[in-house]
Amino acid sequence: MATMRERSTKPMYDIWAWFYNWTFGALVRSRQRRAVQQLPFKPGDRILDLGVGTGLTLKHYPKDVTVIGMDLSHGMISKARVMCQERGYDHIKLVRGDGMNPPFAAQSFDHIIMCHTVTVVSDPARLLNQAARIVKPGGRIVLANHFRSTNSIMGWLEKFSNPFWVKIGWRSDVALEDVLKGVDLQFEYHFKHRFMDLWQIVCLTNNSNTLATSSENQQDNQNANPLPAKQPVLA
Ligand SMILES: C[S@@+](CC[C@H](N)C(=O)[O-])C[C@H]1O[C@@H](n2cnc3c(N)ncnc32)[C@H](O)[C@@H]1O
Repeated sequence: MATMRERSTKPMYDIWAWFYNWTFGALVRSRQRRAVQQLPFKPGDRILDLGVGTGLTLKHYPKDVTVIGMDLSHGMISKARVMCQERGYDHIKLVRGDGMNPPFAAQSFDHIIMCHTVTVVSDPARLLNQAARIVKPGGRIVLANHFRSTNSIMGWLEKFSNPFWVKIGWRSDVALEDVLKGVDLQFEYHFKHRFMDLWQIVCLTNNSNTLATSSENQQDNQNANPLPAKQPVLA
C-alpha cells in the first residue's frame, strides 16, 4: 500500500512551497475560511494550525487570539513567515515541527485546525491522537480534508489512483471512518463546503477529562513528555 513518509514529505513540500499558493493553494482558499469559522474561539484563546503550510489560513484569525502555526517543511513555513512579517501578524508564531510528535505539553491549546494535513502524514490516526493529547478538554479539532468517497466506484478509483497521488504529496485512499475508529475524539458534524466538493470539513471535540483513555493513547503518552522534550524550532 502506497503511503506517506515524513522523511520524503518534507523535501517534497519544500519544493511545493515555490508554487503552492497559485496551484493547490488557489483551489482551497474559501474552504479554509469556512474551516476556520468552525473554531469557537474567544479572545485570549491559543489555537494550533497544524500543517499550516504557506499560511493561507492565517488571515482568517482575529488578532485577539494567539495562533501557533506548525509545519514539517521549512520551505512552506518560510513562505508563511514572510507573509506574517509583511502583514505585521504579531499574534501568530510559526514553529517547524512534526505533527506526529508535536513538541507541546498536554492540553496546550484551546482548539486545533488541520487543513489538508491528515492525508499527508504517515499515520492519520496517530496525528489525531496527538492532537487529542495537546488540545484542552472541550476543545474542538477541525479538519478540512479529502477523504475516500463512500460511493463504491469513486472510492475504488481513489484507492486505485493512490500510488500516483502519494508521489506528488498526499493520499487519496484514507476513509474518514477508518481514521476515526482509532481516535479518542467525539465526532460532532461534517459537511461539504460546496455541493460537488471532493473535500469535507469535519468537526471533532475532545470530550475526555483525562489525558488518556484508550490503550493507544496511553502508549502515546508514555512516549510523550508532559512538557516539551525539546524546544520547537522557530522557523
Ligand atoms: C497540502 S499542504 C496544506 C497546507 C495548508 N494547511 C493549506 O491548507 O494550505 C500539507 C502541509 O502539511 C505539512 N505536513 C506534512 N506532514 C506533516 C507533519 N508530519 N507535521 C506537520 N506538518 C506536516 C506539509 O509540509 C504541508 O505544508
